[in-house]
Amino acid sequence: MHIPRHLAVIMDGNGRWAETRCLPRIAGHRQGVRTVREIVQECQRLGVDYLTLYAFSSENWGRPDDEVSALMELLSIYLREQFDLMLEKRIRLRVIGEIERLPLPVRRVLEETVAKTDDHDGMVLTLALSYGARNEILRASRRLAARVAAGELSPDAIDEELFADSLDTNGMPDPDLLIRTSGEMRISNFLLWQIAYAEMVFTPVLWPDFGVEELHWALTEFTRRERRFGLTRDQVDRRSGEKGH
Ligand code: IPE
Ligand code: IPE
Ligand code: MG
Repeated sequence: MHIPRHLAVIMDGNGRWAETRCLPRIAGHRQGVRTVREIVQECQRLGVDYLTLYAFSSENWGRPDDEVSALMELLSIYLREQFDLMLEKRIRLRVIGEIERLPLPVRRVLEETVAKTDDHDGMVLTLALSYGARNEILRASRRLAARVAAGELSPDAIDEELFADSLDTNGMPDPDLLIRTSGEMRISNFLLWQIAYAEMVFTPVLWPDFGVEELHWALTEFTRRERRFGLTRDQVDRRSGEKGH
């Protein structure tokens, strides 16, 4: 089984999981956190280098206030209870998105966890929080434009590499595989720049029901894919022959 170096996940379907059980949506989110714990551990065990989870979008701020605050609360609880695991497994936490918009107590726990795990050399776990890809691209463009305006940077020096380095995901390889649960087949403003050549796997399974077995199924599906990056099959075969596999 090929293990993607960078796996990105759109964790969707918590609300529907709860609705089918006549439970409040927050019960679905709570169950969703259990899935996060399990999937983080399994990815770490399998040797995934980067795991990026879409936990809260820029657009999710528009949800009812009680759902938003419950999600923020769950996030703080999750970070506190998972800290020991991050220490034990040397997991490094990163955050992408407009973190300034998060409530102060949540931001504090986040920043503290990011700082305390900064020297870890294990899997990089990135949480996309208050994240929207268009917003990320805009913020990067603004930063670059400011440098051009200040005379520090020539517009011609802005290439794909510099642009990627200006995004929140700077220093990370692009995702090899993107999984979305719950049967929706859309991107919902996630990592638009970075997924240019990602393989995509969509599963009807709702996030709270997604487990190690479903993850393995998605990885098997990924293993069957032939990634050509715009080249011909012959070229791809020749290159992988040269690399010795
Ligand atoms: C994903 O589940 C979690 C977040 C977006 C925070 P949803 O809450 O979107 O669940 P559905 O899509 O309504 O079922
Ligand atoms: C995408 O799910 C965002 C997260 C998983 C955090 P949504 O449920 O917000 O997306 P849409 O509204 O179905 O596109
Ligand atoms: Mg949803």
